[in-house]
Amino acid sequence: MKYIVCEKPHEFLLKQKPMPQQKPGESLLKIKKIGVCGTDIHAFGGNQPYFNYPRILGHELAAEYIEGKAPGFTTGDKVTFIPYFHCGKCIACRNGLTNCCVNMQVFGVHIDGGMAEYVSIKDEFLLHGEGLDYEELALVEPLAIAAHAVRRACVTKKDTVLVMGAGPIGLGLIQFAQLAGAEVIIMDINEYRLNFCQETLRISHSINPLKEEVADSLSTFTNGDMPTVVFDATGNQNVMNSAFNYIAHGGRFVLVGLQKGELAFSHPDFHKRESTLMSSRNATKQDFDYVLQTLRSGKIEPKKYITHRGAFNDTIDNFKNWINPENNAIKIIIDVD
Ligand SMILES: NC(=O)c1ccc[n+]([C@@H]2O[C@H](COP(=O)([O-])OP(=O)(O)OC[C@H]3O[C@@H](n4cnc5c(N)ncnc54)[C@H](O)[C@@H]3O)[C@@H](O)[C@H]2O)c1
Ligand SMILES: [Zn+2]
Ligand SMILES: [Zn+2]
Repeated sequence: MKYIVCEKPHEFLLKQKPMPQQKPGESLLKIKKIGVCGTDIHAFGGNQPYFNYPRILGHELAAEYIEGKAPGFTTGDKVTFIPYFHCGKCIACRNGLTNCCVNMQVFGVHIDGGMAEYVSIKDEFLLHGEGLDYEELALVEPLAIAAHAVRRACVTKKDTVLVMGAGPIGLGLIQFAQLAGAEVIIMDINEYRLNFCQETLRISHSINPLKEEVADSLSTFTNGDMPTVVFDATGNQNVMNSAFNYIAHGGRFVLVGLQKGELAFSHPDFHKRESTLMSSRNATKQDFDYVLQTLRSGKIEPKKYITHRGAFNDTIDNFKNWINPENNAIKIIIDVD
């Protein structure tokens, strides 16, 4: 079978290897669509922390069920799967927090992933994809990240939510916060993405920090209250540090974006607001099930995020072009048919 490996930063190779061996309790899947994630782009660019090469990337996957004994699955079924392989034994797993397992192995990050024609996956991670198409199924994982963060923040219709960063993760945050009934404000420095949010996601309040004072605009939009929930989906340290001043009194600040440095904030300002700071990592089966149900009911249409599509065999030729910021990619989907 064919697979694409990131041999070292800035180098993909298209190679051949034998079909994956199914271990007991695993099923063989034929990969149909692969979503390209920021993590894949960082790994390719050599700026993903703690990353080992060579590595087969790809964790946003839609597949056809080929062979195995997974209860309820038969050959030809459309599937996706949870790519966070948790240990089931650690303190987090024992408490049902499989998303932040101590021994987490993310498929396509810590271990080889799905930029391949076939993979063999433990049955426990499989999810039914009936009623959805393969492109929708390839979008389930990034949506689950967003759904988890929104659930963690307990967003309700009483909230005014600021989403910082309008990448695929931020777009998911917007949509699930809207589904929870909240009013959403988007902030980004990318005008193309801000326009996308206004036009496609019906966001009326958007902020570009390059053009305006963020705190002032937030105050205007909220009649001086400020947002009760702030999500970071930029992964930018300065943005995160500034955002401590954007939270309403009694509000929550949720770090979905990741950066390598330390955060610094004024304790008196944090304290007087009785602010809550939380991070949000990955997602659990509950979040994946919620995303699948939301997609089936047509409440969100994330295929609108797909800006670029290409064939598996052309991936190496396309990749540098896709990730060039001038091409305004939001979501890229590789077609393995
Ligand atoms: N919590 C998790 O488990 C998890 C999972 C996946 C991704 N992430 C993280 O979520 C973040 C977002 O991921 P993505 O794929 O949407 O990334 P992305 O790069 O597509 O989007 C980030 C957005 O932030 C904007 N931005 C950057 N600097 C800014 C600034 N100074 N002010 C305002 N906007 C700014 C960019 O223009 C971009 O639109 C990343 O940090 C990623 O590592 C976290
Ligand atoms: Zn991802
Ligand atoms: Zn664990």
